[in-house]
Amino acid sequence: MTGRYLPPVGRAPLAVALDAPDGATALRWAAAVGPSAAVLKIGLELFYREGPAMIAALRERGLLAAAPGSASAPELFLDLKLHDIPATVAGGMRSVATLLPRFVTVHAAGGSAMVRAAIAAAPDVDVAVVTVLTSLDAAALAATGLAGPPEDAVRRLAVLAVEAGARTLVCSPQEVRMVRSELGGDVTLITPGVRPPGVEAADQARTSTPREAVEAGADLVVVGRPITRATDLGEAARAVADSISAGRAAVGG
Ligand code: C5P
Repeated sequence: MTGRYLPPVGRAPLAVALDAPDGATALRWAAAVGPSAAVLKIGLELFYREGPAMIAALRERGLLAAAPGSASAPELFLDLKLHDIPATVAGGMRSVATLLPRFVTVHAAGGSAMVRAAIAAAPDVDVAVVTVLTSLDAAALAATGLAGPPEDAVRRLAVLAVEAGARTLVCSPQEVRMVRSELGGDVTLITPGVRPPGVEAADQARTSTPREAVEAGADLVVVGRPITRATDLGEAARAVADSISAGRAAVGG
């Protein structure tokens, strides 16, 4: 798919991370947050336990759009962060493409040929390329052998991904302005590491508020625990969606 991500009319560009321990919990969470979310993100914890049956269960209940582009329910984001040799990642992409996700993540650190193979294997999927995990601060990044501040690594990996054909990148809200000025306006930027004011960062390191993220130019804001650990998930999701909408209005989005 091409073009910058736009949420369905009437929904804020919020992706809620359903990092739930089991399917029953995920269904409950999806029902509560669905009205406020443009996208539901399923990652390693839920997908490794429940697999494709989870996607079918959400769709059967009308909690997930049947396919990308349908505005009746949130779209599917499979955050599987593929990182392997090109042939293996291509095979993985072909397998998950049958689930009709809007987004699937791969790691830019897998290299240019791997990103290219992922895109070629799933032409109808937005391959979202993760630059540097939002949990890594400068010291943690240096310990992996990637020298320099996170912003430099994000810049290098974002350029690598776009040169390999990617149009969708994942970075922290703190790098959105830099990535946009480096790569132009038509790249979709997805930002995790988002925390409403006063909410603890937990294991996230490079964070901003939802409003700051969209004001910086993020196209899709990922929020997990600040919503899914709240007492009232529906209300927490609504509050985050409202602050995203306020941020978009402030920058004329
Ligand atoms: O709970 P929290 O809001 O920290 O969740 C963030 C979500 O975004 C998690 O599901 C995590 O796997 C994902 N993510 C991230 N950093 C990235 C890419 C994805 O935190 N760079």
